[in-house]
Amino acid sequence: MSLPPLKDSFSAHFSMIGNIFNPNDVNAGGTAVTNTRLTRHFNILTAENSMKPSELTRGVPAGEYNFTTADRMVNAALASNIKVVGHTLLWHSQIPQWQRNLASASKETALAAMKEYITDVVDHFKGRIYSWDVLNEVFPDGVTAGSDWKTSMRGNNPWFRSIGSDFVYEGFLAVRLADPDAILYYNDYNTDQVGKATMIRNMVRDVNARYKQAYPNEPRLLIEGIGMQEHHNTDVSAKNVENTIKLFKPLGVKLSVSELDVLGQSWNDYGSAAVTPGGLEQQAMLYRDLFRVYIENKDIIERITLWGVTDDRSWRSSGLPLLFDSSGKAKLSYYAVIDALK
Ligand code: XIL
Repeated sequence: MSLPPLKDSFSAHFSMIGNIFNPNDVNAGGTAVTNTRLTRHFNILTAENSMKPSELTRGVPAGEYNFTTADRMVNAALASNIKVVGHTLLWHSQIPQWQRNLASASKETALAAMKEYITDVVDHFKGRIYSWDVLNEVFPDGVTAGSDWKTSMRGNNPWFRSIGSDFVYEGFLAVRLADPDAILYYNDYNTDQVGKATMIRNMVRDVNARYKQAYPNEPRLLIEGIGMQEHHNTDVSAKNVENTIKLFKPLGVKLSVSELDVLGQSWNDYGSAAVTPGGLEQQAMLYRDLFRVYIENKDIIERITLWGVTDDRSWRSSGLPLLFDSSGKAKLSYYAVIDALK
């Protein structure tokens, strides 16, 4: 007996249920998603790696692009009636060396290079992307709620290093101008932690206020959404996730759960101990509690994306973090989620 499609099970609460895809999930011609687990259960996909700056620039000189694989994937998804999230434009990780080198460039040089990268990439995919993760993970772990967001960004983000905090406004604005139809997101992990959540809240509030001043007649926000990655483990509390949603709510933005997976163990045990049956039970309970929080806030959460289908293909596979085991069988975590939906 096969399980009902997840997108149908969720449809009373969330219209977009997503997952990730890779080049081998689509056919050679880019006319169909061939992974039937994806087409059965999900209606929006995020490239796990293939649209990151390092991939879009792989094997070509600075200023040129390698769009072949990403085009094949995006076209295949659209042909299979699946929307695509563009992930991601501005990041400190999985970027080409020439972007890293811009950390020590002048503000003027780096700003021009950033705008050129954004304009080229966003224009290339224009009309095919539902929402862009414009900026990914700009705040460091452990940032405290009292910090100034403008000076508390990651030192290894080259755009922050050379341009300063202005790159956020300039970057989002460049995406808006290149594809006015795409919904623009800020995306980060550990948003259940109050320090990072407060930095994000303050940044989004201030950048959107600056846009409002510059474009008083524009009804839309510049940063229209916050992606909460939700890479969790059994120590995480759903209550903290709820608190963060409450903190973000007054911004008037949409939220998405953009990369959900929950380790079947604590962060401390991850990588050093095997997942136990008790761990899988705790994992299922946390999935259930998280989904209860998401459902309570379905008025502002537009999408829930899981970061993988089966445990064996997860980027954190040793922590068995997903809803289906390596043989494709539904786990306790799957039934816990379905339970929360009732
Ligand atoms: C991960 C991929 O799943 C891995 O395959 C890759 O090796 C590293 O990146 N935050 C993000 C995602 O925004 O792009 C990351 O994806 C997971 C954390």
